[in-house]
This record gives sequence, C-alpha cells and structure tokens, in this order.
Amino acid sequence: MTVLPIIVAPDPRLKKTAAAVARVDDDVRRLMEDMVESMHAANGLGLAAPQVGVLKRVIVVDTARGEDTPRPIRMANPDVVWASDKIVTAEEGCLSLPEHYADVARPARVRVRYLDHENEIREMEAEGLLATCIQHEIDHLEGVLFVDHISSLKRHMILRKLQKAKRTQAPVPA
Ligand code: NI
Repeated sequence: MTVLPIIVAPDPRLKKTAAAVARVDDDVRRLMEDMVESMHAANGLGLAAPQVGVLKRVIVVDTARGEDTPRPIRMANPDVVWASDKIVTAEEGCLSLPEHYADVARPARVRVRYLDHENEIREMEAEGLLATCIQHEIDHLEGVLFVDHISSLKRHMILRKLQKAKRTQAPVPA
C-alpha cells in the first residue's frame, strides 16, 4: 500500500465532480487500500478519491480513530438513498483544509447504498459521527467542501489563510 499525497485547498481539483466507477476491480481495490493507508497516516476520519487527485466516486471512512482496531469502510459510488428530517450540527475538519474547523448542519441519520470492495451492492444506515463523515466524503465527489456549507465570510477567511500558507511554503522542485 502507498501513502498518497493529499491535495490542500484552494485547488481546482477539489472542485470537480467525480465519475462513477463501472465496477470495483483490482485497480479500484488498490485505490481503496491506498486511500485507507493515506487516511490513517494523516490521522483522518475519512478521505475521498478527489483529495488524492483521482476523479472517481470512491470514499473511505474510519471513525474508530483512537481505538485499538481500525475499522475502515470502503465505498464506491456511494449514494444517500434516505436522510432523516432531523438535522444535527457538528464540528467538521478536512484533510484538505488542515487545521480549520467549522460547525456544519446535516441530516442526523442517512441510509447509503454503495459498492463494497468486492463489487457487492450494500446498504448501511449511519448516525452520529459516521453519518457526518459519510456525507462529508460524498460531498467531495461533487466538488463540495465543508466550507461550502458555512457563511461566505468565514469560507473566504479560511481559504485565504490556506492560500497564504501555500505561498509561504518552499517551492517543490519539479
Ligand atoms: Ni474532507
């Protein structure tokens, strides 16, 4: 498995819509495993393929962080088929917006249909942190970041800081 570099906002690659996976084959499985490895290495709760520069509808989540046994969930073509009317607000962060957090309101429970790592159609219902994470990652597949759910004033402030941090970093040799 390979730890992949994660794209940091602002970056046009994070604003694109990802394409559906035709089937979960060895290539997609390898991508899923690399993404799990990259998520764990970055101490994240979730990762979407566009964050590693791959415009495919693949996400991984693992809300077991801090516990002994990692419990990564791998999903291709995840689709929210039901969402609760009840909305909850939770603080979110993102590996593509390091060190920035904001409160985001989303449905408290969702049912998600997806293809697992063996190309089997599965459905799961999620609530709490897992529901938040899955919705956050699915957003990435539409080019939506958590800052797109907050006020434009706060969004621009965060993106400006990230842009400034990029400019002050040493240029990467070609
Ligand atoms: Ni994210």
